[in-house]
Amino acid sequence: MTTRPTDTSGTAAVEVRGLVKHYGTTRALDGVDLDVRQGTVLGVLGPNGAGKTTLVRVLSTLVRPDAGTARVAGYDVLTQPRQLRRVIGLTGQYASVDEKLSGRENLYMIGRLLDLSRKEARARADELLERFSLTEAARRPAMQYSGGMRRRLDLAASMIGRPAVLYLDEPTTGLDPRTRNEVWDEVRSMVADGATVLLTTQYMEEAEQLADELTVVDRGRVIATGEVAELKARVGGRTLRIRPADPRDAAAMTAALAEAGLSGAAGVTEAPGEGTGRDEGVVSVPVLSDEQLTAVVGLLAARGFAIAGIGTHLPSLDEVFLAITGQKADGSAKAGPASAGDGTANGRPGSGNGERTPGTAQETEDVEVSV
Ligand SMILES: Nc1ncnc2c1ncn2[C@@H]1O[C@H](COP(=O)(O)OP(=O)(O)OP(=O)(O)O)[C@@H](O)[C@H]1O
Ligand SMILES: [Mg+2]
Repeated sequence: MTTRPTDTSGTAAVEVRGLVKHYGTTRALDGVDLDVRQGTVLGVLGPNGAGKTTLVRVLSTLVRPDAGTARVAGYDVLTQPRQLRRVIGLTGQYASVDEKLSGRENLYMIGRLLDLSRKEARARADELLERFSLTEAARRPAMQYSGGMRRRLDLAASMIGRPAVLYLDEPTTGLDPRTRNEVWDEVRSMVADGATVLLTTQYMEEAEQLADELTVVDRGRVIATGEVAELKARVGGRTLRIRPADPRDAAAMTAALAEAGLSGAAGVTEAPGEGTGRDEGVVSVPVLSDEQLTAVVGLLAARGFAIAGIGTHLPSLDEVFLAITGQKADGSAKAGPASAGDGTANGRPGSGNGERTPGTAQETEDVEVSV
């Protein structure tokens, strides 16, 4: 997507093969392979305890892997840690600013640690404070900052050395929507400047907004990888939603489709209309191909059903995540269809402690999830 001064697009800025990391009997990473192409954003999705932070730590040389290899900008995490650290920036899941220092002092100190001259460190600190709308608060101690201000300071800190590869470990967890949007804009502008980003997130919207490609991890393993649209297609493609002219026809339509044995017709559902006041009498059919879509419509027309409305619905990334991992994006166990209307990624109970509930059986049945 970005053209860099020397055209290196397509080459991997991050290359991970067979990465394994144990903590006691926990296999935090259980043979992870992934690539992040230069100048792109890879979104790493996974429930609590999936191994996302462990991956970021290994790629930052903070944790030694037990097996496998990882190279960043060509540098090996085990044999070239010093060179590697010079080209990366890290915004950890937990803010790492010094509470007693002001925002400006925090940034200045990091600049000095990165071997900038006093003058350069001051100039870089001021530039980043401005960019992250922290100029007014620059001289206040970080302990007086709000959560969003701390996060922005943390991001600014990770960018001081103009890293070629940036790791963002859940950069917007706990931020309000406006601040989240500001962070997204910053990430986009860094990518436009040529940075490569590995982003872990539990927010599907964040992944949709920023990531060129996604890797879904669960229990230390990569369980799916691809572009957003590819993953959506893999999870069952589109759902055809048909509104009969007469709502009382819904049951007969459902029966006709099931009887015709259209592949996927087992998933034919009449959207529950009673009591909910919406979607009354709408028939939902998962369709796997254009031919199947045509077949469904053709069959209903041939049987003389009058159709008032028809539309297709792509699964949301939340649904994709649910189908692949058997868990909601916030790490809680998948809800049954009766309560599946709450498809939003909301709070994150148990964050960071690795707690998780075993996933239930996979289902790709279309459930009405508000997006
Ligand atoms: N320092 C540690 N000591 C022991 N176990 C650990 C340590 N760090 C991580 N783990 C375990 O490794 C597994 C992966 O943890 P990790 O923090 O990488 O997950 P995560 O995907 O970042 O989760 P979250 O979404 O909650 O941040 C979990 O089972 C966790 O309990
Ligand atoms: Mg984590």
